[in-house]
Amino acid sequence: MLRDGRDIVSSVVSSQVALHAEHGGVVPELAARAHLESLAQVVDAALAPLPGGWDDVDALAVTRGPGLVGCLVVGALYAQAAAASRGLPIVGVSHLAGHVYSAWLAARHFEPPFLALVVSGGHTDCVELREHGVAQRLASTRDDAVGEAFDKVARMLGLEYPGGPAIQREAAGVDPGRFLLPRTHLDAAFSFSGVKTAVRYAIRDLGPGRLDERGVPRDRDVIRGIAASFQTTAVDQLVRGLAQAVDRTGAEQVAVVGGVAANSALRAAVTERFKGLTVVVPPLELCTDNAAMIAAAGWHRLQRLGPDSLGFEVDPSLAEFA
Ligand code: KG4
Ligand code: ZN
Repeated sequence: MLRDGRDIVSSVVSSQVALHAEHGGVVPELAARAHLESLAQVVDAALAPLPGGWDDVDALAVTRGPGLVGCLVVGALYAQAAAASRGLPIVGVSHLAGHVYSAWLAARHFEPPFLALVVSGGHTDCVELREHGVAQRLASTRDDAVGEAFDKVARMLGLEYPGGPAIQREAAGVDPGRFLLPRTHLDAAFSFSGVKTAVRYAIRDLGPGRLDERGVPRDRDVIRGIAASFQTTAVDQLVRGLAQAVDRTGAEQVAVVGGVAANSALRAAVTERFKGLTVVVPPLELCTDNAAMIAAAGWHRLQRLGPDSLGFEVDPSLAEFA
């Protein structure tokens, strides 16, 4: 719940991590059902700080896409029903725009133009927000999203879901030079499938005697070494990609947003690399998925374009700001 688009009145996150961890990754049908079960309680909790409850709400924003279609439909239908029954304006917001606006939300004086590196389970995009609502994608991944690569590598190492925090924990204080992984350098693009495959081969090359029945290295130091090497390689590629975009655009302000921006090695590397620029990396609770960032992007969209009509579609592949 935001006041005037920027002050967070409440932010309620219902995590499904425990539900999906049992399965080693997100199960789409379970995710949609869990949305259905928890949505009403989450909305009630978000409204709790408002003295007038729903009467104090002026507008609604909801994620339009991209994402798992079952989850998007549950959210959009709930929001559209609430808007219709209370006569409130509603806007459907791109998930990507939400992540970009988490930086605007995090730093009071942070206004466009800025570059945002959006790094999550579904995105690895460098976006230039020239002015509110006017965005251009400068670079994107050719294959896996970086968060997806963290999750897959963690799985190969026998670490729990979600993989990002697990890899960060295993990598802490470990020399990243023990296992050499290839560094991918692309112009105006990212790629993570090469390093993921290299991890697979590095594990295989240990030989069957050093792997357990799941094919996971038995030796904890090996797991930690590979985790550290992968993390360093991934962070290095992200920072280089962002630096290229800064050079090309002459940007003076950069933000790193999305779930992977919670990574402490990435946060440290970005702060160090872009010392002369204004750098915003939101607090952890605004990096991973949250409703406040969707409300912030929705608030701007409402000012610019007015409300959407009820019955607007969800779009699991939507990747732009429109
Ligand atoms: O933005 P997000 O919460 O959801 C999506 O929109 O995908 O991002 C989730 C991703 C997962 O891939 C997760 O492993 C990764 O963010 N992640 C991290 C860390 N915390 C979450 N990756 C690296 N280091 C972390 N500390
Ligand atoms: Zn996200």
